[in-house]
Amino acid sequence: MKTKYSAKSTESPVLTDMFSRTISYLRLSLTDRCNLRCIYCVTEEEHEGHLVKLSHDELLTYEELLRVVRVAVAMGITKLRLTGGEPLVRHNVMHFISSLGGIDGLDDIRITTNGVLLEKYAHDLVSAGVTKVNVSLDTLQAKRFFEITGVDCFTQVWKGIEQALAAGFSPVKLNMVVMRGINDDELAEFARLSRDLPLQVRFIEFMPIGNSSRWHKDTYMSSDEIMERIGQFGELLPLEKKNADGPAKVFKLGANAKGAVGFISPISHHFCDRCNRLRLTSEGRLRSCLLHDEEIDLRKVLRSGGSDGQIRQTLLDAIENKPKGHQLAQKLREEGGDCHGRMSRIGG
Ligand code: 5AD
Ligand code: SF4
Repeated sequence: MKTKYSAKSTESPVLTDMFSRTISYLRLSLTDRCNLRCIYCVTEEEHEGHLVKLSHDELLTYEELLRVVRVAVAMGITKLRLTGGEPLVRHNVMHFISSLGGIDGLDDIRITTNGVLLEKYAHDLVSAGVTKVNVSLDTLQAKRFFEITGVDCFTQVWKGIEQALAAGFSPVKLNMVVMRGINDDELAEFARLSRDLPLQVRFIEFMPIGNSSRWHKDTYMSSDEIMERIGQFGELLPLEKKNADGPAKVFKLGANAKGAVGFISPISHHFCDRCNRLRLTSEGRLRSCLLHDEEIDLRKVLRSGGSDGQIRQTLLDAIENKPKGHQLAQKLREEGGDCHGRMSRIGG
Protein backbone atom coordinates (compact mmCIF):
# COMPACT_ATOMS: atom_id res chain seq x y z
CA MET A 1 0.00 0.00 0.00
CA LYS A 2 1.24 3.52 -0.78
CA THR A 3 0.30 7.03 0.17
CA LYS A 4 -2.40 7.92 -2.31
CA TYR A 5 -4.07 11.03 -3.42
CA SER A 6 -6.86 10.67 -5.94
CA ALA A 7 -8.59 13.73 -7.31
CA LYS A 8 -10.70 12.89 -10.33
CA SER A 9 -12.92 15.81 -11.24
CA THR A 10 -16.06 13.74 -10.72
CA GLU A 11 -15.38 12.81 -7.12
CA SER A 12 -14.12 14.41 -3.93
CA PRO A 13 -10.38 13.95 -3.45
CA VAL A 14 -9.30 11.32 -0.93
CA LEU A 15 -5.95 11.05 0.84
CA THR A 16 -4.91 7.60 1.98
CA ASP A 17 -1.78 6.63 3.88
CA MET A 18 0.45 3.53 3.74
CA PHE A 19 -1.89 1.64 6.05
CA SER A 20 -5.13 2.49 4.17
CA ARG A 21 -6.14 5.13 6.69
CA THR A 22 -8.00 8.07 5.17
CA ILE A 23 -6.32 11.33 6.15
CA SER A 24 -9.02 14.00 6.31
CA TYR A 25 -8.24 15.99 9.45
CA LEU A 26 -5.63 18.71 9.85
CA ARG A 27 -4.77 20.23 13.22
CA LEU A 28 -3.23 23.68 12.97
CA SER A 29 -1.35 25.13 15.90
CA LEU A 30 -1.71 28.89 15.38
CA THR A 31 0.72 29.94 18.10
CA ASP A 32 2.80 28.48 20.89
CA ARG A 33 1.74 31.40 23.07
CA CYS A 34 -0.79 30.92 25.80
CA ASN A 35 -2.40 32.96 28.53
CA LEU A 36 -2.14 29.98 30.91
CA ARG A 37 0.81 27.81 32.01
CA CYS A 38 -0.66 24.39 32.76
CA ILE A 39 1.51 22.11 34.86
CA TYR A 40 1.44 19.33 32.26
CA CYS A 41 2.35 21.62 29.40
CA VAL A 42 5.27 23.62 30.74
CA THR A 43 8.28 22.97 32.98
CA GLU A 44 8.16 23.88 36.65
CA GLU A 45 10.34 26.90 35.95
CA GLU A 46 7.98 28.04 33.21
CA HIS A 47 5.01 27.49 35.49
CA GLU A 48 6.55 30.12 37.74
CA GLY A 49 6.48 32.55 34.83
CA HIS A 50 9.63 32.17 32.70
CA LEU A 51 8.24 31.17 29.32
CA VAL A 52 10.41 30.83 26.23
CA LYS A 53 8.34 31.73 23.16
CA LEU A 54 8.84 31.54 19.44
CA SER A 55 9.56 34.87 17.77
CA HIS A 56 6.93 36.25 15.42
CA ASP A 57 9.01 35.36 12.30
CA GLU A 58 9.14 31.75 13.33
CA LEU A 59 5.36 31.39 13.18
CA LEU A 60 3.67 30.80 9.86
CA THR A 61 1.87 33.94 8.73
CA TYR A 62 -1.90 33.83 8.15
CA GLU A 63 -1.25 34.03 4.39
CA GLU A 64 1.05 31.00 4.61
CA LEU A 65 -1.46 29.10 6.72
CA LEU A 66 -4.30 29.86 4.32
CA ARG A 67 -2.21 28.71 1.41
CA VAL A 68 -1.40 25.40 3.09
CA VAL A 69 -5.03 24.86 4.06
CA ARG A 70 -6.23 25.54 0.49
CA VAL A 71 -3.76 23.00 -0.91
CA ALA A 72 -4.63 20.46 1.79
CA VAL A 73 -8.38 20.84 1.22
CA ALA A 74 -7.90 20.33 -2.51
CA MET A 75 -6.17 17.04 -1.60
CA GLY A 76 -8.94 15.70 0.64
CA ILE A 77 -8.69 17.41 4.02
CA THR A 78 -12.26 18.29 5.08
CA LYS A 79 -11.89 18.96 8.77
CA LEU A 80 -9.67 21.48 10.50
CA ARG A 81 -8.96 22.07 14.16
CA LEU A 82 -7.34 25.25 15.41
CA THR A 83 -5.13 24.75 18.42
CA GLY A 84 -2.22 26.46 20.16
CA GLY A 85 -0.82 27.26 22.69
CA GLU A 86 -4.03 29.20 22.91
CA PRO A 87 -5.32 29.98 19.40
CA LEU A 88 -7.47 32.92 20.53
CA VAL A 89 -4.45 34.92 21.77
CA ARG A 90 -3.04 35.31 18.27
CA HIS A 91 -3.48 38.83 16.93
CA ASN A 92 -6.37 39.24 14.44
CA VAL A 93 -7.37 35.61 14.79
CA MET A 94 -11.04 36.24 13.98
CA HIS A 95 -10.21 37.71 10.62
CA PHE A 96 -8.09 34.64 9.84
CA ILE A 97 -10.85 32.25 10.91
CA SER A 98 -13.37 34.08 8.71
CA SER A 99 -11.02 33.63 5.75
CA LEU A 100 -10.86 29.91 6.49
CA GLY A 101 -14.67 29.88 6.55
CA GLY A 102 -14.59 30.97 2.90
CA ILE A 103 -12.56 27.99 1.65
CA ASP A 104 -14.65 25.73 -0.57
CA GLY A 105 -14.67 22.11 0.53
CA LEU A 106 -13.75 22.88 4.13
CA ASP A 107 -16.97 21.95 5.85
CA ASP A 108 -15.81 21.57 9.39
CA ILE A 109 -13.73 24.06 11.39
CA ARG A 110 -13.22 23.41 15.09
CA ILE A 111 -11.25 25.01 17.83
CA THR A 112 -9.65 23.85 21.06
CA THR A 113 -9.32 26.66 23.57
CA ASN A 114 -8.61 27.11 27.25
CA GLY A 115 -11.75 29.25 27.38
CA VAL A 116 -10.15 32.37 28.87
CA LEU A 117 -11.19 34.50 25.86
CA LEU A 118 -14.32 32.58 24.98
CA GLU A 119 -16.74 34.97 26.60
CA LYS A 120 -15.42 37.64 24.28
CA TYR A 121 -15.24 35.52 21.13
CA ALA A 122 -17.97 32.82 21.28
CA HIS A 123 -20.46 34.65 19.08
CA ASP A 124 -17.77 35.77 16.63
CA LEU A 125 -16.62 32.18 16.30
CA VAL A 126 -20.09 31.15 15.19
CA SER A 127 -20.22 34.01 12.68
CA ALA A 128 -16.78 33.08 11.36
CA GLY A 129 -18.00 29.56 10.57
CA VAL A 130 -16.57 27.55 13.46
CA THR A 131 -18.68 24.44 13.97
CA LYS A 132 -17.46 23.00 17.29
CA VAL A 133 -15.65 24.20 20.39
CA ASN A 134 -13.60 22.14 22.84
CA VAL A 135 -12.64 23.77 26.11
CA SER A 136 -9.75 22.39 28.15
CA LEU A 137 -10.75 22.44 31.80
CA ASP A 138 -9.18 20.25 34.46
CA THR A 139 -10.87 21.51 37.61
CA LEU A 140 -14.07 23.20 38.76
CA GLN A 141 -12.40 24.73 41.81
CA ALA A 142 -11.05 28.27 41.49
CA LYS A 143 -8.10 27.73 43.83
CA ARG A 144 -7.07 24.52 42.13
CA PHE A 145 -7.48 26.17 38.72
CA PHE A 146 -4.81 28.63 39.81
CA GLU A 147 -2.55 25.82 41.02
CA ILE A 148 -2.88 23.91 37.74
CA THR A 149 -2.74 26.78 35.27
CA GLY A 150 -0.75 29.45 37.13
CA VAL A 151 -3.50 32.04 36.52
CA ASP A 152 -6.49 32.91 38.65
CA CYS A 153 -9.29 32.97 36.09
CA PHE A 154 -11.62 30.02 36.61
CA THR A 155 -14.67 32.29 36.69
CA GLN A 156 -13.65 33.82 33.39
CA VAL A 157 -13.39 30.38 31.78
CA TRP A 158 -16.73 29.31 33.19
CA LYS A 159 -18.36 32.45 31.75
CA GLY A 160 -16.76 31.53 28.44
CA ILE A 161 -18.34 28.07 28.54
CA GLU A 162 -21.74 29.60 29.29
CA GLN A 163 -21.29 32.03 26.45
CA ALA A 164 -20.35 29.21 24.05
CA LEU A 165 -23.59 27.44 24.98
CA ALA A 166 -25.54 30.67 24.57
CA ALA A 167 -23.95 31.22 21.16
CA GLY A 168 -25.42 27.89 20.05
CA PHE A 169 -22.49 25.46 20.12
CA SER A 170 -24.07 22.13 20.86
CA PRO A 171 -22.64 20.27 22.51
CA VAL A 172 -19.75 22.23 23.95
CA LYS A 173 -17.02 19.72 24.76
CA LEU A 174 -14.99 19.96 27.93
CA ASN A 175 -11.63 18.17 27.99
CA MET A 176 -10.45 17.12 31.43
CA VAL A 177 -6.99 15.58 31.71
CA VAL A 178 -7.37 13.19 34.65
CA MET A 179 -4.41 13.19 37.04
CA ARG A 180 -4.49 10.97 40.09
CA GLY A 181 -3.90 12.91 43.28
CA ILE A 182 -4.38 16.22 41.46
CA ASN A 183 -7.96 16.32 40.17
CA ASP A 184 -9.38 12.77 40.27
CA ASP A 185 -11.50 13.74 43.29
CA GLU A 186 -13.56 15.87 40.87
CA LEU A 187 -14.68 13.10 38.53
CA ALA A 188 -18.19 13.07 40.03
CA GLU A 189 -18.57 16.86 39.75
CA PHE A 190 -17.48 16.82 36.13
CA ALA A 191 -19.74 13.89 35.28
CA ARG A 192 -22.66 15.65 36.97
CA LEU A 193 -22.21 18.66 34.69
CA SER A 194 -23.14 16.45 31.75
CA ARG A 195 -26.48 15.71 33.38
CA ASP A 196 -27.47 19.31 33.90
CA LEU A 197 -26.03 21.01 30.82
CA PRO A 198 -25.61 20.08 27.12
CA LEU A 199 -21.91 19.51 27.64
CA GLN A 200 -19.89 16.54 26.46
CA VAL A 201 -17.43 16.05 29.29
CA ARG A 202 -14.44 14.10 28.05
CA PHE A 203 -12.02 12.39 30.40
CA ILE A 204 -8.57 12.12 28.86
CA GLU A 205 -5.76 9.84 29.99
CA PHE A 206 -2.71 11.82 31.05
CA MET A 207 0.06 11.34 28.49
CA PRO A 208 3.81 11.61 29.10
CA ILE A 209 4.45 14.28 26.50
CA GLY A 210 5.65 17.84 26.43
CA ASN A 211 8.28 19.46 28.62
CA SER A 212 6.57 18.70 31.85
CA SER A 213 8.22 16.41 34.35
CA ARG A 214 4.90 16.01 36.16
CA TRP A 215 3.90 12.83 34.42
CA HIS A 216 4.40 9.82 36.59
CA LYS A 217 2.91 6.37 36.32
CA ASP A 218 1.14 6.96 39.64
CA THR A 219 -0.43 10.19 38.33
CA TYR A 220 -1.70 8.37 35.24
CA MET A 221 -5.17 6.86 35.51
CA SER A 222 -6.52 4.53 32.83
CA SER A 223 -9.88 5.13 31.15
CA ASP A 224 -11.10 1.80 32.49
CA GLU A 225 -10.54 3.00 36.04
CA ILE A 226 -12.06 6.43 35.29
CA MET A 227 -15.12 4.75 33.74
CA GLU A 228 -15.51 2.46 36.68
CA ARG A 229 -15.42 5.41 39.06
CA ILE A 230 -17.96 7.36 37.01
CA GLY A 231 -20.18 4.31 36.65
CA GLN A 232 -20.69 4.54 40.41
CA PHE A 233 -22.52 7.84 40.02
CA GLY A 234 -25.10 6.61 37.52
CA GLU A 235 -25.76 4.20 34.69
CA LEU A 236 -23.50 4.72 31.65
CA LEU A 237 -25.69 4.28 28.56
CA PRO A 238 -23.61 3.91 25.38
CA LEU A 239 -24.42 6.42 22.63
CA GLU A 240 -24.08 5.66 18.98
CA LYS A 241 -20.74 6.94 17.78
CA LYS A 242 -20.96 10.04 15.64
CA ASN A 243 -18.26 11.35 13.38
CA ALA A 244 -17.85 14.37 15.64
CA ASP A 245 -16.84 12.23 18.62
CA GLY A 246 -13.38 11.43 17.22
CA PRO A 247 -11.57 8.88 19.36
CA ALA A 248 -13.92 9.28 22.36
CA LYS A 249 -16.21 6.50 23.60
CA VAL A 250 -19.40 8.34 24.47
CA PHE A 251 -22.15 7.60 27.01
CA LYS A 252 -25.08 9.29 28.66
CA LEU A 253 -24.99 9.31 32.44
CA GLY A 254 -28.60 8.26 33.02
CA ALA A 255 -31.45 8.52 30.52
CA ASN A 256 -32.30 12.14 31.38
CA ALA A 257 -28.84 13.62 30.98
CA LYS A 258 -28.75 16.74 28.80
CA GLY A 259 -25.17 16.11 27.77
CA ALA A 260 -22.80 13.16 27.64
CA VAL A 261 -19.53 11.84 28.99
CA GLY A 262 -16.68 10.67 26.78
CA PHE A 263 -13.54 8.66 27.47
CA ILE A 264 -10.36 9.16 25.51
CA SER A 265 -7.67 6.53 25.98
CA PRO A 266 -4.56 7.46 23.98
CA ILE A 267 -2.48 5.10 26.11
CA SER A 268 -4.58 2.15 27.21
CA HIS A 269 -6.66 1.63 24.05
CA HIS A 270 -4.91 3.65 21.42
CA PHE A 271 -6.82 4.53 18.28
CA CYS A 272 -3.86 4.58 15.87
CA ASP A 273 -5.53 2.18 13.45
CA ARG A 274 -8.31 4.74 12.86
CA CYS A 275 -6.16 7.86 13.05
CA ASN A 276 -7.07 10.33 10.30
CA ARG A 277 -4.87 13.22 11.49
CA LEU A 278 -2.04 15.33 10.31
CA ARG A 279 -0.63 18.18 12.40
CA LEU A 280 1.03 21.44 11.52
CA THR A 281 3.02 22.94 14.39
CA SER A 282 3.08 26.67 15.06
CA GLU A 283 6.54 26.92 13.49
CA GLY A 284 5.33 25.26 10.31
CA ARG A 285 6.46 21.69 10.77
CA LEU A 286 4.29 18.84 9.60
CA ARG A 287 3.94 16.14 12.20
CA SER A 288 2.16 12.95 11.23
CA CYS A 289 1.77 11.63 14.78
CA LEU A 290 1.47 13.34 18.15
CA LEU A 291 3.70 10.73 19.76
CA HIS A 292 6.30 10.40 17.02
CA ASP A 293 8.91 13.14 16.97
CA GLU A 294 9.66 13.13 13.25
CA GLU A 295 8.61 16.41 11.60
CA ILE A 296 8.95 17.88 8.11
CA ASP A 297 9.78 21.54 7.65
CA LEU A 298 7.00 23.00 5.52
CA ARG A 299 7.97 26.57 6.42
CA LYS A 300 11.21 26.12 4.53
CA VAL A 301 9.27 25.06 1.43
CA LEU A 302 6.91 28.03 1.76
CA ARG A 303 9.70 30.56 2.32
CA SER A 304 11.95 29.34 -0.45
CA GLY A 305 9.33 30.11 -3.09
CA GLY A 306 7.82 26.61 -3.13
CA SER A 307 4.98 26.05 -5.60
CA ASP A 308 1.60 24.59 -4.66
CA GLY A 309 2.88 21.35 -6.18
CA GLN A 310 5.82 21.36 -3.76
CA ILE A 311 3.52 22.05 -0.82
CA ARG A 312 1.37 19.14 -1.97
CA GLN A 313 4.42 16.88 -2.24
CA THR A 314 5.58 17.88 1.26
CA LEU A 315 2.15 17.00 2.67
CA LEU A 316 2.35 13.64 0.90
CA ASP A 317 5.85 13.04 2.29
CA ALA A 318 4.60 13.71 5.82
CA ILE A 319 1.69 11.33 5.36
CA GLU A 320 3.99 8.71 3.88
CA ASN A 321 5.97 8.81 7.14
CA LYS A 322 2.92 8.44 9.36
CA PRO A 323 3.72 5.52 11.65
CA LYS A 324 1.34 2.61 12.00
CA GLY A 325 0.96 3.28 15.71
CA HIS A 326 2.67 4.07 18.95
CA GLN A 327 3.84 1.63 21.59
CA LEU A 328 3.55 4.05 24.46
CA ALA A 329 1.78 1.66 26.83
CA GLN A 330 4.49 -0.96 26.33
CA LYS A 331 7.31 1.61 26.57
CA LEU A 332 5.89 2.93 29.81
CA ARG A 333 5.77 -0.55 31.28
CA GLU A 334 9.39 -1.18 30.27
CA GLU A 335 11.03 2.20 30.85
CA GLY A 336 8.62 4.01 33.11
CA GLY A 337 8.27 7.15 31.02
CA ASP A 338 9.07 8.98 27.82
CA CYS A 339 8.75 12.62 26.83
CA HIS A 340 8.23 14.16 23.41
CA GLY A 341 8.07 17.58 21.70
CA ARG A 342 6.41 20.62 23.21
CA MET A 343 2.63 20.40 23.47
CA SER A 344 2.21 24.16 23.10
CA ARG A 345 3.84 24.07 19.66
CA ILE A 346 2.27 20.82 18.48
CA GLY A 347 -1.20 21.73 19.70
CA GLY A 348 -2.32 18.46 21.27
N1 5AD B 1 -2.02 14.41 28.42
C1 5AD B 1 -3.29 14.44 27.98
N2 5AD B 1 -3.87 15.53 27.44
C2 5AD B 1 -3.13 16.63 27.35
N3 5AD B 1 -3.43 17.86 26.89
C3 5AD B 1 -2.34 18.64 27.02
N4 5AD B 1 -1.31 17.94 27.55
C4 5AD B 1 -1.80 16.70 27.79
C5 5AD B 1 -1.24 15.51 28.35
N5 5AD B 1 0.02 15.46 28.78
C6 5AD B 1 -4.74 18.23 26.38
C7 5AD B 1 -5.20 19.60 26.78
C8 5AD B 1 -6.13 19.96 25.66
C9 5AD B 1 -5.74 19.10 24.52
C10 5AD B 1 -5.30 19.88 23.33
O1 5AD B 1 -4.70 18.26 24.97
O2 5AD B 1 -5.87 19.63 27.97
O3 5AD B 1 -7.47 19.72 26.00
FE1 SF4 C 1 -2.02 26.76 27.50
FE2 SF4 C 1 -3.08 24.48 26.70
FE3 SF4 C 1 -0.55 24.50 27.52
FE4 SF4 C 1 -2.53 24.91 29.28
S1 SF4 C 1 -2.13 23.02 28.06
S2 SF4 C 1 -0.63 26.09 29.10
S3 SF4 C 1 -4.02 25.98 28.11
S4 SF4 C 1 -1.33 25.49 25.73
